Amino acid sequence: MKARILEGKTGIITGALDENSIAWKTAVKAHQHGAKILLTNAPVALRMGKVQQLAEQLETEVIGADATSLEDLGKLYDAAEAKFGKLDFILHSIGMSPNVRKEKPYTDLNYDWMFKTLDISAISFHKMMSLAYKRKLMKEWGSVVALSFIAAQRSFPKYGDMSDAKALLESIARTFGYYFGRDQKVRVNTISQSPTPTTAGTGVDGFDQMLKYGEVMSPLGNATAEDCADLCVLLFSDFTKRITMQNLFSDGGFSSVGASPEILGTR
Ligand SMILES: NC(=O)c1ccc[n+]([C@@H]2O[C@H](COP(=O)([O-])OP(=O)(O)OC[C@H]3O[C@@H](n4cnc5c(N)ncnc54)[C@H](O)[C@@H]3O)[C@@H](O)[C@H]2O)c1
Repeated sequence: MKARILEGKTGIITGALDENSIAWKTAVKAHQHGAKILLTNAPVALRMGKVQQLAEQLETEVIGADATSLEDLGKLYDAAEAKFGKLDFILHSIGMSPNVRKEKPYTDLNYDWMFKTLDISAISFHKMMSLAYKRKLMKEWGSVVALSFIAAQRSFPKYGDMSDAKALLESIARTFGYYFGRDQKVRVNTISQSPTPTTAGTGVDGFDQMLKYGEVMSPLGNATAEDCADLCVLLFSDFTKRITMQNLFSDGGFSSVGASPEILGTR
């Protein structure tokens, strides 16, 4: 029988929009591993997406919360505490850039939009952790995970100001991870995932080319949304108790390759 490594654990999963979402796959797998989950997404996503369908499947509910709003996050945590008491895990699976969406070039950003990008895609992670930390919402050895992309370290021009957001997200994980670990024994990590065909992913200009490039550069091929979900489950589990403040690459080896024979045309 398959081991259920999250038996008895409870957590919040953000960002499940439809079946392609990494958060959707993570919620399904975490549930299969015995976890009880509260789902949340932005109010607009509740109207447009399919998250209610997932909630029915997992016999849970969805709480609408704009992750940039401390008030919304407070209400989300009230609901989570009423349902579960303290939590074992939180997944931050949230990203959006108005500049990328409207194809504004990186050399000519709309700065109001850039603030939005950073707030939604990175500072919301700080807000979620700060509120949880102050309320002592997480259990000891709890786990907080956010999803990142290699544009935090390397230049991917079409990824625009999302690159800056991901660099900030990873820095927040390290910096907050220190305090959360020292004071409450809570882990904080990011997963840097391969290009993945989701609503957010395919919204990036040139996504199909990035997907193909990743496929031939990575010795194991691109990591899928399911691969990422498996790693999230592992990071929520007790098997990774002392892994914290890390950025783990779920990318088939892409981040360690300089050039592949397929790209060089030498094969
Ligand atoms: N798809 C990829 O290629 C890829 C690669 C690496 C990392 N990621 C990251 O994975 C995470 C999940 O994205 P995905 O690819 O599953 O796409 P997705 O579009 O399915 O998920 C993005 C989610 O962010 C939510 N969101 C946007 N603004 C919000 C707000 N203000 N408050 C709360 N939620 C909000 C959306 O409603 C959506 O559910 C993101 O952080 C993304 O940057 C994606």
